[in-house]
Amino acid sequence: MTLKSIIGSLPSYPHHIMNVFSGTNSIQEFKQVFKALIFSKDIVTGDENKTYKALLEKSLNSKNMYTFASGRMGFYTLLKSMNVKKDDEIIIASYTCVVVPNAIIYSGAKPIYCDINKFDFNVDVTKVEALITDKTKAIYAQHTFGQMCDVYALKKIADRYDLPVIEDVALSLGAKDGDNYAGTIGDFGYYSTDRTKMINTSLGGFVSVNNQKYLDNFEKEYESVDFLSTSFTKKIARTFLIDLVMMHPYLYWLGKFTNPVFRKLGIVKYFLDEQKHEKDKITEYPYPARFSSILAIIGISQVKHLEENLAYRREMARYYNSIFEIYSDDYIEDKKNVFLRYSFLIKNRNYWEKRFASKIDLSIWFKTIAVGKNSDFEDIHYTVGQNSKSEFVTEHIFNLPTHHNITPKRIEKLLYELKKSGDIIREEKMEIMEF
Ligand SMILES: Cc1ncc(COP(=O)(O)O)c(C=O)c1O
Repeated sequence: MTLKSIIGSLPSYPHHIMNVFSGTNSIQEFKQVFKALIFSKDIVTGDENKTYKALLEKSLNSKNMYTFASGRMGFYTLLKSMNVKKDDEIIIASYTCVVVPNAIIYSGAKPIYCDINKFDFNVDVTKVEALITDKTKAIYAQHTFGQMCDVYALKKIADRYDLPVIEDVALSLGAKDGDNYAGTIGDFGYYSTDRTKMINTSLGGFVSVNNQKYLDNFEKEYESVDFLSTSFTKKIARTFLIDLVMMHPYLYWLGKFTNPVFRKLGIVKYFLDEQKHEKDKITEYPYPARFSSILAIIGISQVKHLEENLAYRREMARYYNSIFEIYSDDYIEDKKNVFLRYSFLIKNRNYWEKRFASKIDLSIWFKTIAVGKNSDFEDIHYTVGQNSKSEFVTEHIFNLPTHHNITPKRIEKLLYELKKSGDIIREEKMEIMEF
């Protein structure tokens, strides 16, 4: 190790680095969680769970919401409720988070990967039907980076084979087609509220069951889902408090270094099951588990501020788009898109990521076909070379965060430099005719 590399790796001086975390939480939420940690007798099964559920149903226009300790656990539970079993197949996009194929594998089924399009990074709906077999159990509609996929086209295909559509709204909470929120259009929808998402409850997720046909079985399955222990819940709540301080742009230069240490010491906790492709290997917490009431306190506040959160992100997307002109103005204003990230393709990504690094920790999202996993894709039934567009996107994706802690003026010069470089790859939206 050279002296230069040692110096380079030290938190050299306190300065402002913007980061990927949700950036929507308030001091008020900090105080509420802190107070509950000290004084509340029940931080797991308290009444806040009911209030949160009711607020989600009202705010997102769903009749049946069920909260979970994470989105992936909600997805797993709904698969179980559909009686998914060995060798069944679920069609998903080959551009996702590894916890998605993991949940499918835990249920006994097999993920079947469909390629994506290079415009909005969602599944290429023209390729889905060819993947349906007599083992197919569901079609997955993932709304990537805050841009809604064509869930109605997927529904049409699914209806022809009497299959359910499961929407993945982990990255697109608040997106809306007409009066219908993403997640309430398919037979099921599920959402994530971890610290990088549209709203941040430290960890968390919920499921909307939209088709009555599946409701009884889902409720039966949900009955059997445990709560997290009080001690694990305390750790998640404490993580929320620590992250809120240490991941703030003014302290992130230090938080970046303390976070791995805190992880090692068990002071902060996340669900780290990304590398576990067998459910039995998850031993530290129940999988699946329900949401804890101390986190519902944050959820209630976050949902109440959802509209202003979405408005800020749209403003950021407008700003980025005024420079890069990737999308039309109509696309930016369309409520179907909520821009959790402002995403596009570039050449020379490594170079640009390094150039931005002193001002913003981009931690570009989805650099592999199943983020969280960088190799050995056969573990999740994907063969390298299988889906060329997905693999192209993993190499060239560039995305910018849009949350409240982002002040784009600090990176403006670089944004213009990137634009002038000619490194941006422009892709037209594919017009899909009829299904
Ligand atoms: C596309 C996608 N789906 C599902 C999930 C799962 O959400 P959770 O982390 O709450 O389990 C994630 C997590 O980042 C994701 O990116």
